[in-house]
Amino acid sequence: MAITGLLEPSLKLILFGGKGGVGKTTCASCAALYLANNNKNTLLISTDPAHSLSDSLGKEIGDEIKQIEGVDKLSAIEISAEKALSKFKIEYEDELRRLFDTSTYLDKEDIDAILGLPIPGIDEVMGFKTIVDLIEEGKFDKYVVDTAPTGHALRLLTFPELLDDWVKVMAKMRWKYRYMVTSFAGKYKPDSADDFLMSMKKTVKKIEGLLKDQNRCEFIVVTIPEDMAIKETERMVKSLNQYRIKVKQMVINNVIPEEGRCSFCQARREGQDKYIGEIRGKFSDLNITIIPLQPHEVKGTDALKNIGNMFFAG
Ligand SMILES: Nc1ncnc2c1ncn2[C@@H]1O[C@H](COP(=O)(O)OP(=O)(O)OP(=O)(O)O)[C@@H](O)[C@H]1O
Ligand SMILES: [Mg+2]
Repeated sequence: MAITGLLEPSLKLILFGGKGGVGKTTCASCAALYLANNNKNTLLISTDPAHSLSDSLGKEIGDEIKQIEGVDKLSAIEISAEKALSKFKIEYEDELRRLFDTSTYLDKEDIDAILGLPIPGIDEVMGFKTIVDLIEEGKFDKYVVDTAPTGHALRLLTFPELLDDWVKVMAKMRWKYRYMVTSFAGKYKPDSADDFLMSMKKTVKKIEGLLKDQNRCEFIVVTIPEDMAIKETERMVKSLNQYRIKVKQMVINNVIPEEGRCSFCQARREGQDKYIGEIRGKFSDLNITIIPLQPHEVKGTDALKNIGNMFFAG
């Protein structure tokens, strides 16, 4: 079986996720190469702070979109969440200051301190905002995302909720301010801080709409036939479903091939078969693709392309 449906024109965003070390980066790179070779203008994106796309593709990639040499339709970017956050703060500094200034009793120093504080999860949030902005720009047919190991990826998906809560609190504070201004001045004229909140609200809606739209977005789970990986996979699929992100396909990677087995490999494969059976039982509604363990690391565009052509399909 192969991972199917990737060439569907409506499908824009394809995310690969799973436990650490199971082959997320490899699968995302293979899928991106497959798409690029099938004439889809593809952007391969990494949101893992421990970026490894450069190692996987064997080409230097950075935090700017870069066309991959030798593959016409493939570009890649390793998003720096830290940079995305500081860009956001610079871009909206006036609006953020105005919000705090008009809605709280904080003075300038307090506001400076707040804007300088590290906010837990904000880096993932900004990483996601960058992806959404890229999709909005619409320069590519497909956006393939190599996510960081499970916990990180799931935090990424709580982004809309987190941002929505934040906007709600801010809007409430603004509303009080608005009420006061109206009481005293008789009339309230919305300013740039109101516009900012409105545009954040729209961003939340857009992201939620995209993530939950099965035609436009697909989350492919990668796992390996091992006990701990299965347990983590179960938790991940459950969490994704809770966010109403439907998982339809799964990759079981590193499966020892049937042919030419020595007794050591045979014993390993028997152990794997038990877990493969367990995965098939637990995820019977998913399209499951087995990718065999290769004799060598899967690195560089040629090796990735070969795997991509074998295990990914239109
Ligand atoms: N089917 C395979 N056969 C042989 N080697 C593989 C296979 N799949 C992946 N690898 C190798 O295993 C290593 C880990 O794969 P990869 O980096 O894709 O995992 P990952 O899930 O992205 O890891 P991390 O959680 O650290 O980001 C890489 O060196 C890769 O080349
Ligand atoms: Mg990786």
